[in-house]
Amino acid sequence: MDSGSPTSNLFDLTGRVAIVTGGNRGLGRAIALALAGAGASVAILARDEEKSRETLAMLHQRGARAISLKTDLSNRPQTSASFETVERELGPVDILVNNAGFAILKGVLDQTDEDWDAVIETNLTAAFRLSRMAARSMAARGRGGKIVNVSSIAGNFGTPVFPSYAVSKGGMQQLTRCLALELAPHNIQVNSLLPGWFTTDMTDWIRNWPEYSEALKEMIQRTPRGRFGEPDELAGAVVFLASRASDHMTGADLVIDGGFSVR
Ligand SMILES: NC(=O)c1ccc[n+]([C@@H]2O[C@H](COP(=O)([O-])OP(=O)(O)OC[C@H]3O[C@@H](n4cnc5c(N)ncnc54)[C@H](OP(=O)(O)O)[C@@H]3O)[C@@H](O)[C@H]2O)c1
Repeated sequence: MDSGSPTSNLFDLTGRVAIVTGGNRGLGRAIALALAGAGASVAILARDEEKSRETLAMLHQRGARAISLKTDLSNRPQTSASFETVERELGPVDILVNNAGFAILKGVLDQTDEDWDAVIETNLTAAFRLSRMAARSMAARGRGGKIVNVSSIAGNFGTPVFPSYAVSKGGMQQLTRCLALELAPHNIQVNSLLPGWFTTDMTDWIRNWPEYSEALKEMIQRTPRGRFGEPDELAGAVVFLASRASDHMTGADLVIDGGFSVR
């Protein structure tokens, strides 16, 4: 590394191509905007076309090269086709952010096979498949690359409320570690980003449903920062993990949770 160059250059993503799954709302939208703000071209993959149009307009307003591709990540051929379209339209992928995910609020006793499969397929298997596609492309070009897996602090804890989600996130952290080892010789860094509780559609239940009001109180009390995170509070972390600034970091968990997991 050239230690004489300005620090801001470390975070410059000009000329890089990024994919953000679930980039049309919530944390994914904040991540897409952050990467574009650092100079990257961005492709967002998600199902809801109206939300994707909104986010695409925000990306274009900021002067970014950006596309959105309607993709259901539980549909394997569609996911593969979207990856190929990104490379055709924007160029070879340098940064992959596996962000899309969802939870089913059912304990193991109530969970059906279909519930389990749906969560694992979207949250974990799609991340594995896209990582494989991105890593093959990055390795073939020999220019290195970055994979960021948006896991969760839920990947570190047991829970009776959303077990399939917690298992998918624990699996994602293991995927990060395995890929980090295998891809290090190709100069591809793979890290997990572990958000705590953030204000998005995903956390509507704990923030707004009366039956979870005690859980909400407990959660706030346990968080040293005393509140939910806001999506754009992940911006710095994701640019760091996508940029040269994190070149000597791989296989790690970066926790952004207002201190929730310290207790
Ligand atoms: N919010 C939090 O407190 C929190 C905490 C820890 C970790 N996380 C993680 O952060 C990530 C983003 O969560 P969020 O809070 O932003 O949730 P969100 O607001 O519910 O957004 C979820 C995103 O995932 C996409 N998605 C879900 N299923 C998909 C599918 N089958 N195919 C394609 N896209 C799909 C959604 O797009 P479409 O519906 O349009 O497809 C949407 O963009 C998730 O992996 C979540 O586990 C969130």
